[in-house]
Amino acid sequence: MSATAAGVLNKEILKRRTFAIISHPDAGKTTITEKLLLYGGAIQMAGTVKAKRGKKFATSDWMELEKQRGISVTSSVMKFPYEGHEINLIDTPGHQDFSEDTYRTLTAVDSALMLIDGANGVEAQTKKLFEVCSLRQTPIMAFINKMDREARDPFDLMDEIEKVLGIACYPVTWPIGMGIRFRGVYDRQREQLLLFEKDAERSRPVALTELGLDSPEVDAELGEEVAAELRSQVEILSAGETFDRERYLRGELAPVFFGSALNNFGVQTLLDALVEISPSPMPRPSTSRTVQPTEPKFSAFIFKIQANMDPSHRDRVAFMRIVSGKFERGMKAWHVRLKRESRLGRPTQFMAQDRSLVDEAYAGDIVGIHDPGIFKIGDTLSEGEDLIYSGIPVFSPEHFVRVQLKDPLKSKQLNKALDQLSEEGAVQVLRPITSNDHYLGVVGALQFDVVKYRIEFEYSVKVQLHALPYSAARWIRSTDAAAIDAILKDQAHIIARDQHENPVILLDQIWRLKLLNERHPKITFATTSENLQDRS
Ligand code: G4P
Repeated sequence: MSATAAGVLNKEILKRRTFAIISHPDAGKTTITEKLLLYGGAIQMAGTVKAKRGKKFATSDWMELEKQRGISVTSSVMKFPYEGHEINLIDTPGHQDFSEDTYRTLTAVDSALMLIDGANGVEAQTKKLFEVCSLRQTPIMAFINKMDREARDPFDLMDEIEKVLGIACYPVTWPIGMGIRFRGVYDRQREQLLLFEKDAERSRPVALTELGLDSPEVDAELGEEVAAELRSQVEILSAGETFDRERYLRGELAPVFFGSALNNFGVQTLLDALVEISPSPMPRPSTSRTVQPTEPKFSAFIFKIQANMDPSHRDRVAFMRIVSGKFERGMKAWHVRLKRESRLGRPTQFMAQDRSLVDEAYAGDIVGIHDPGIFKIGDTLSEGEDLIYSGIPVFSPEHFVRVQLKDPLKSKQLNKALDQLSEEGAVQVLRPITSNDHYLGVVGALQFDVVKYRIEFEYSVKVQLHALPYSAARWIRSTDAAAIDAILKDQAHIIARDQHENPVILLDQIWRLKLLNERHPKITFATTSENLQDRS
């Protein structure tokens, strides 16, 4: 690679930011996504994301189901430019009942934005998603939303984030009042006062008054009492955490912002911080070595497969996260699992709701490619090296059903449907070792409706799903083959094989693990399966 080409590559990579928003339903994720897209010029009018919510799902037949239920269970990918940067935002489903897709999405980002409703604080799903991020030490920023409503005391909120999530907080901005008394925020980094004006319709921020905190104009603007309170709060904060970017990058410290997404307030400060301090594409470990984003050779991994995005074509799109080098339209890549060259056809990027073909893309970018049925989640693509990107685990399902085929003559179609849906990661298919049944496992129970609908609609197979009493699965691992044989015999009635023939034990009560551990001390009961090495 020439020095100029290396320079271009470096520059492109430094421009990129790839992140996801994690939040509990209703915290305002759709609203803030829309505001971010507005700043990036990807959409022209507020309300577009919302208005298209219904329409978006019509792009896929099976998503009809989601439309009917008024929810989103798939995540989408959006790209937009901002201030000379290229931002990839991966949407994670916000519904309580979400799928493994959500978890996997988080393996494809370099940082996350945690959105918190100021009145509700840290909620269940935020906590769950945060835990997934912290597994990979993903850097996290927090935006405390809805400050135009009565919210919790900001010090309490900081305290809650620190205690419940175990991450230190550094408030970059600090709110002045809340609800009807919300006057804006003080930006501690820039030492500026940003005054709030209720203005939901504007796509650009209202003109902000920028003043130093000690300025007498602050008293004039806020009133002496409010100004004095703000000064004393900022004083208290200065005794707390200092901003340390290294700690943020290690996932130990969260910069915190306050605002109101609906009123477009605080969003630009957040976006500025995102391009300033959040990481550009990071190196990624593979089973053999750590790959740097600036390496000239292209490599990527597939983290999501979505079928039938276009019902007239019955197509499957595999989403790849580029880890290193440059992608060019028409290129072939080495499909490591299949050990052969594959064409990466119809490379597509998504901007708000529009798709466009991609001519070139760089580390950090997310590109959808046409999948003629050759990709599985976790597959690695390279320019010849046998790299395998680790860290795309299969999580333990929490809900299980047995599949009953209504027409026994359709068992071949059923097998095909289950194979394809499991390759896509839509469901985990488990085969009990003592019968010919098919069990399905999912992380969010809603996924069963989606899978049943798809089996019927896409493969014309009618099935009934019967609930099973299990609530967790653990992968059985041991270096001692005799120990594995012993547990397979001893617990045969609750053991099944996953898609890759790995043995999995199914548990109705998690406390049973303790007994199993005592009885089979040489076995490890793993909560996730990283199947990359054992995959066929
Ligand atoms: P989600 O994607 O995280 O589920 O949340 P969404 O953006 O749909 O927002 C949930 C609700 O919270 C919406 O109200 C939205 O308008 C409101 N909201 C979002 N940000 C703010 C904010 O900064 N301040 C206030 N006061 N409200 C906010 P809704 O009534 O459920 O929907 P809609 O009728 O407004 O569409």
